[in-house]
Amino acid sequence: STVFVLNGPNLNLLGKRQPDIYGHETLSDVETACREQCARQGIEIRFHQSNTEGQIIDWIHEARDTGAAIVINPGAYTHTSVAILDALNAFDGPVFEVHISNVHRRESFRHHSYVSLRADGVIAGFGTQGYLLALQRVAHVLGVSSP
Ligand code: DQA
Repeated sequence: STVFVLNGPNLNLLGKRQPDIYGHETLSDVETACREQCARQGIEIRFHQSNTEGQIIDWIHEARDTGAAIVINPGAYTHTSVAILDALNAFDGPVFEVHISNVHRRESFRHHSYVSLRADGVIAGFGTQGYLLALQRVAHVLGVSSP
């Protein structure tokens, strides 16, 4: 099984932008931790980040053909993108939405998520550990061995 871990705009700046909100770990640190956990779980991983909405949609389409599950932090597109919601609605497997920060404690425009209309589960405010928790859930729902 292959899990797609998709990251939206500005997450390439993780560790550098607003560390008070998003922490000091970089996206490359997150990728390493995700790869290690997937290796332990016996799941293949595709890890991607893009600042472009269309690119994220293309990866979701790719997951239709090759992916068993999607873990997605859509960044600000969470709150704006009907197109990403539509793409996820065209994907049959489990979808888990991750936010590093607790979006519910922040500005009200971050309280609504289009992606949550499709997500099987949502994690917010667990820092970058949220990705690993989501991957643990992926292993569970796919029925593969979990740590
Ligand atoms: C985020 C929360 C979003 O509101 C914000 O636009 C981001 C990151 C998070 O991981 O906490 O870019 O998705």
